[in-house]
Amino acid sequence: MKKLEDYVRSIPDFPEPGIIFRDVTSILQDADGLQLAIDSIQEKLKDVDVDVIAGTESRGFIFGVPVAYNLHKPFVPIRKKGKLPCETISQDYDLEYGSATIEMHKDSVKPGQKVVLIDDLVATGGTIEAAAKMVERLGGEVVKIVFLMELAGLKGRERLKEYNVESVICYE
Ligand code: HPA
Repeated sequence: MKKLEDYVRSIPDFPEPGIIFRDVTSILQDADGLQLAIDSIQEKLKDVDVDVIAGTESRGFIFGVPVAYNLHKPFVPIRKKGKLPCETISQDYDLEYGSATIEMHKDSVKPGQKVVLIDDLVATGGTIEAAAKMVERLGGEVVKIVFLMELAGLKGRERLKEYNVESVICYE
């Protein structure tokens, strides 16, 4: 029986020397890998009372939507600035060089709703922290954040310490 780790292709020195890139496409392109990935994320939510699943562009959509579908919950896309057509709120966050902005529709989370955030990978945690803050500004409660992969050395978990964070695979 293969474990999810077995489906992750690791590419040394990509995109820069010294970085080991954990490739999610190698999970997706295997039918068993894809199913195991979705099931593993969903397993982390089995005791969680949730109203809305939200995911960040773009790999958060890949894993968030099937989980939302299986749980029969709505899915809210959190997108890069300028992509969403209706009234949005936005949140800035710092990148290694410069900053970025993500947005979500104002009517996508209602006050009091319990929200789970899903993404494929946590590195420094900056994007998902911004997503969580934005959900909270709409009155939502971030009840859990689930990642398929965690790069523990980049200390995303520390940055997200006020949240309930779980990852399926953790790389030291
Ligand atoms: N894999 C995929 N995305 C990433 C990685 C990685 O190893 N590091 C930062 N973003």
